[in-house]
Amino acid sequence: MSAAVDSGTGALNGRVHCAESATNGHHDPRPWSQQFLPTPLHLEDSVRAQKVEARLKELVLCGEVLRRVADVFEQEIERGLSEQPSSLQMENTYVPELPDGTEEGVFLALDLGGTNFRVLLLELAAGQLVRQQVKHYHISNALRLGTGEELFNFLADCVLDFVKQLGMEDQTFSLGFTFSFPMKQHSISSGELITWTKSFKCSGLEGVDVAALLERCLRARNLQITVRVLLNDTTGTLIAGAHMHKNVGIGVILGTGSNGCYMERASRVQHWEAAHERVQDVCVDIEWGAFGDNGCLDFIKTDFDREVDAGSLLATSFTFEKYIGGKYLGSILSCVLSALARAGLFPAEPAPDALQTAHLSLFEDENCAGEVSRTMTALREVCAGASITAEDARVAQHVAHVISNRAAQLVSVCISTLVRRMSRPHVAVAVDGSVFKHHPRIARLMRTYIALLAPHHSFSLLGAEDGSGKGSALTAAIAARLATRDS
Ligand code: BGC
Repeated sequence: MSAAVDSGTGALNGRVHCAESATNGHHDPRPWSQQFLPTPLHLEDSVRAQKVEARLKELVLCGEVLRRVADVFEQEIERGLSEQPSSLQMENTYVPELPDGTEEGVFLALDLGGTNFRVLLLELAAGQLVRQQVKHYHISNALRLGTGEELFNFLADCVLDFVKQLGMEDQTFSLGFTFSFPMKQHSISSGELITWTKSFKCSGLEGVDVAALLERCLRARNLQITVRVLLNDTTGTLIAGAHMHKNVGIGVILGTGSNGCYMERASRVQHWEAAHERVQDVCVDIEWGAFGDNGCLDFIKTDFDREVDAGSLLATSFTFEKYIGGKYLGSILSCVLSALARAGLFPAEPAPDALQTAHLSLFEDENCAGEVSRTMTALREVCAGASITAEDARVAQHVAHVISNRAAQLVSVCISTLVRRMSRPHVAVAVDGSVFKHHPRIARLMRTYIALLAPHHSFSLLGAEDGSGKGSALTAAIAARLATRDS
């Protein structure tokens, strides 16, 4: 365990930036279906350019195919909501309302989902975040792949370390637990893990109530901490976004993993384990990472995707996440460049696992700027010093562009389907995650594609930060408000 507890000051109330409108004002003269296509590859050697593009054809989706994906997504949503077999879990989160500006109190929040685990102390006064202290703890590979008991004991040790450092180990706390994995929720504060995703694969936790297990581990350390809300990072993002902007109705994570949630009419949700007569809308966690696990999306699966899946920690699951998540985009890039190298269209195969999603962003960044020098340096590193020309760098940049374009298209299919389904005068979408934040043009592509797929609907994408921390505390405060109202 390292580092002191940080006190947040400047950005206490999070950041919501660039609320752009759906259209960018410029008219694309191509037919609708072609407006989704990536920019063509131009090389001095036009025969090589044609051969590369032919090899990448399967990764290029036109408007009609995206419409078909949208239709399947909609059908899977309906099936999931009505508890019929579906690759979309459509989980009832039991979060029935958004922040109203009255949220008060001091809360602990835990954020588990990536390689770091965060413990936060957050104080809300009249809906505003007035104090935030946070400490990051690294979760080793051994813990991520060990037993569930070990992992949760480690989490409780971190909480103990955190409250001790603040001299607050004897205080009573309500806690919001952001657990960013698929769950079967029984209430706003309890839920069972369905399956691990991303880089976690601990044994013995599937089917276990993770909130109860956490509380047990905390009690064993004499900590008086109650889990008031168990939520997913998308719910946290929706709630944090709604705190900043009144029209937010959808929360999206486009990071290591990907997922979305939205406010659905309570009457359309079949699964309830609690009274809900007075509930109008409820947040539904879609778990779109698993979209297509039942084969319904096989019409877009490529050999590259099969290869990435076969080499992944959790093979044959989370099909859709493997097309769009930051954990996988670097692997797709690597597979495609290797295939091009084997076909004599690229100088060398990259070393296994050498290409990361950060490389894809770098290649895209230089591509947008019309440069190649940093791409060439990076390629020499990952291809064991092979000789790389500017033309080779352009090929790699084009591959990165095609992969990024497909990811933007697919996530836009999901968001536009929700925007159409919600049918409100304006829907703001709160988005967080490393790919959305660091990829140089994914946000722009998404705005264009959502507008093309939901042309009669007004929407905006908001970069919403720290849903897993601030959103967790706000949701815990909402849960406290509901408990007082219902008692
Ligand atoms: C998980 C989701 C989560 C998403 C983003 C996925 O792998 O299944 O629950 O929201 O990653 O972190």
